[in-house]
Amino acid sequence: MKALWTAAAAALGAAAFGLSRPGVRETLREDLDTVRRRDPAATNDFVSLISYPGMHAIWAHRGLHKLWQHDATKVPARLMSQAVRTLTGVEIHPGATIGRRFFIDHANGVVIGETSEIGDDVMLYHQVTLGGTSMEQTKRHPTLGNHVLVGSGAKILGPVVVGDNSSVGANAVVVKDVAADSSAVGIPATVRPKKSGKTAAPEAGTAAGAASAAVTEDKKSKYADFELVDPAIWI
Ligand SMILES: CC(C)(COP(=O)(O)OP(=O)(O)OC[C@H]1O[C@@H](n2cnc3c(N)ncnc32)[C@H](O)[C@@H]1OP(=O)(O)O)[C@@H](O)C(=O)NCCC(=O)NCCS
Repeated sequence: MKALWTAAAAALGAAAFGLSRPGVRETLREDLDTVRRRDPAATNDFVSLISYPGMHAIWAHRGLHKLWQHDATKVPARLMSQAVRTLTGVEIHPGATIGRRFFIDHANGVVIGETSEIGDDVMLYHQVTLGGTSMEQTKRHPTLGNHVLVGSGAKILGPVVVGDNSSVGANAVVVKDVAADSSAVGIPATVRPKKSGKTAAPEAGTAAGAASAAVTEDKKSKYADFELVDPAIWI
């Protein structure tokens, strides 16, 4: 019992120290804004703070990625990333490089391999794998550009590149490069230019449509700098 209290006090102390640093507070604010942009169900920052395992996994990864840069701390980083997987259901290798405003919705079952590179404003759903196809210790995992969306259950395998603003459909298996501004769907995935002007919002004129439009307007005004249109945002 005493050990539990000590651990809780240490965690609170670490949190207080972190929050006393302006950079940490800014990053936390950005993360919470990202949750709000990405998930229409997120309306309360306190609830978001404690109930998004995808965000917790990303926080842990930021620290573990720093440890991974030094030979002496590679092993602890790897072991701790396994503990994070147990707690969050998300396995991110500490060697993976991840940009800003990354978001994993529903989180469970996501695997991100060691040499994966992920740009800014990328979103993954649950059960996504960014996996390797080679046993060599080389660049063997995917590279995702900026503003990429990867649907639930999609597998992206090998050192392929998914270009900026592209989407990978739910359950697709991508084994070749995906051009920018494209959608990749199916097994093996076929790549096609994104259909423009398409929205997954409920029909206008219905009660659901009106409610959705109000939420959209609200989100637009708050987050006008946000450009990626997530076709699955209404699901
Ligand atoms: C692929 C996706 C991003 C849509 O991209 P888009 O460019 O707007 O594509 P469209 O919806 O216009 O569909 C283009 C074509 O791909 C097909 N398609 C769309 N998603 C597909 C999928 N996951 N698997 C197979 N085919 C799919 C459509 O039927 C359409 O076919 P058609 O040209 O023969 O009519 C979207 O369908 C998707 O899969 N999003 C992920 C959603 C998700 O995982 N949600 C989880 C919520 S919990």
